[in-house]
Amino acid sequence: MRLDRRLCELAFGTRKEVQALIRQGLVTVGGQTVRDPGQHTDDAAVITVKGTAVDTRRIRHLIMNKPAGVLTAARDARQQTVMDLLPPVYGTLSCMPVGRLDRDTTGLLFFTSDGELNHRLLSPQRHVDKTYRAQVDADLTQEDVERFAQGMDLGDFVTETAELVLEGPRTGLVTIHEGKFHQVKRMFEAVGKQVLLLDRLSFGPLKLPKDLPRGTWRELNREEIQSLYRQVGMEEPV
Ligand code: URA
Repeated sequence: MRLDRRLCELAFGTRKEVQALIRQGLVTVGGQTVRDPGQHTDDAAVITVKGTAVDTRRIRHLIMNKPAGVLTAARDARQQTVMDLLPPVYGTLSCMPVGRLDRDTTGLLFFTSDGELNHRLLSPQRHVDKTYRAQVDADLTQEDVERFAQGMDLGDFVTETAELVLEGPRTGLVTIHEGKFHQVKRMFEAVGKQVLLLDRLSFGPLKLPKDLPRGTWRELNREEIQSLYRQVGMEEPV
């Protein structure tokens, strides 16, 4: 790929801006200053900009503790999105959320720039488990637990079986094996309860880290990455 294009992809600026950086002699490739923006660079090349080594990895995976009030979308003209909480490089590398959480839902949101991994994790055949803590507006009952376990007819679709574990009179842990629009809220509505707070605690093998404050994110560690590829039966790209 051309050096200027590569630096755009890595969010160093517009095509014009990165061309200016290169022409000013501020960019090295493999230890050599390069002044030609059109020079080809291979993926493994070591690049520095203004003396600092550039993280050139194309595939990135992130975990976010999503705050309430933020849309799960790539961009929106009026409202803040989860992408607005990340440095621009993740957008230019198409590191996108896998699935979505409602605006008022908090907790674990996973992002990846590996399109195939994203696709497989969302595939209805894979049944990736998601666990949520839900706080509702009325006392939960054993009958609710049974209704969740049986699967429910929500009118436009019938849910698979789900686990509801009572944590408190109005708090439950729900595990679903699919991910339809507003699914958890609709399941509670079907048993006559309104969800007041919904927080995702896990997504497949990923757990919401206790040391990740609301509204913050980090890159996944090696073990977390491996567990996700294993979950979908994919080789991790090199
Ligand atoms: N189910 C919902 O109803 N909302 C979410 O955000 C996620 C699952």
